[in-house]
Amino acid sequence: MGLVTLKEILSESIEKKYAVGAFDTLDDNFTEAIIEAAEEEGLPVILMIPNFFWEKNDLSFYFTRLLDRCRRATVPVCLHLDHGRSFEDVMKAIHGGCTSVMFDGSALPIEENIAVTRKVVEAAHACGVSVEAEIGHVASPEGELQASEADETMYTSPEDAAHFVQQTQVDALAVAVGTVHGIYKGTPKIDTRRLDEIRSRVSIPLVLHGGSGLPEEEFRAAIAHGINKVNFFTGLSLEAVKAIRQTLDDAPTGKVHYIELKEASHTAVKNTIKHQMKIFGTLPFNRKLLVQ
Ligand code: 13P
Repeated sequence: MGLVTLKEILSESIEKKYAVGAFDTLDDNFTEAIIEAAEEEGLPVILMIPNFFWEKNDLSFYFTRLLDRCRRATVPVCLHLDHGRSFEDVMKAIHGGCTSVMFDGSALPIEENIAVTRKVVEAAHACGVSVEAEIGHVASPEGELQASEADETMYTSPEDAAHFVQQTQVDALAVAVGTVHGIYKGTPKIDTRRLDEIRSRVSIPLVLHGGSGLPEEEFRAAIAHGINKVNFFTGLSLEAVKAIRQTLDDAPTGKVHYIELKEASHTAVKNTIKHQMKIFGTLPFNRKLLVQ
């Protein structure tokens, strides 16, 4: 089935009230685990390139391998840049072959966020690439491990969300409604009333960042009240490390081949994804909806 855009992969998610999982990859082992999990479940998946990885690696070689794996997938895969920080980042991702990009201007004043996002949308849409943007701000930088809690003053205003979508014509909108990136301090609670208000004013798919550590019932509430894409990363990374540690601890001689560590982390990441996909209620992709 191979590569599809974010718009295509989420096209039935509002009407059928489900979310598609979006998982950040760190290396070939993660990429393989993410796509294999989706293939084994027969479900669509969004494979994300995190921006902190982006800054450290040779992109041309990386994109060749990523695109090859996505194209060979038996299920639809959307290759998405997560948290693009600038117009230039987004252009690099489109040039590399991403079918979707996030421009994250959530730390900017809203009118500035609108101005850059509009530029991004114009360029991306001309290339057939979808765009996600963020309004309000999901706390804590992605990739951090210190615990934090959501700050209500940064939650998405429903009026701003409607204005932003109307002005930018983005394909999906990330909202701040009670989650944080990384590890939660205390028990997170989704602001479902706010989500209802946003949903009633915005007709495009809504995105929940900071999926790791959210209790199952909060995921279900978020999806029932309008979330269509869930970003999930820290949980995969922590499960991979836990599996590696367990493999080392279980070795009677203390000696382990590297391949065993890779296999243990691969299985842990894959199982975590399959578990999350069930919670998200993801449904198989309807090929008839593909934009020709
Ligand atoms: P977590 O690492 O908290 O799952 O958040 C991932 C995310 O939102 C990436 O954009």
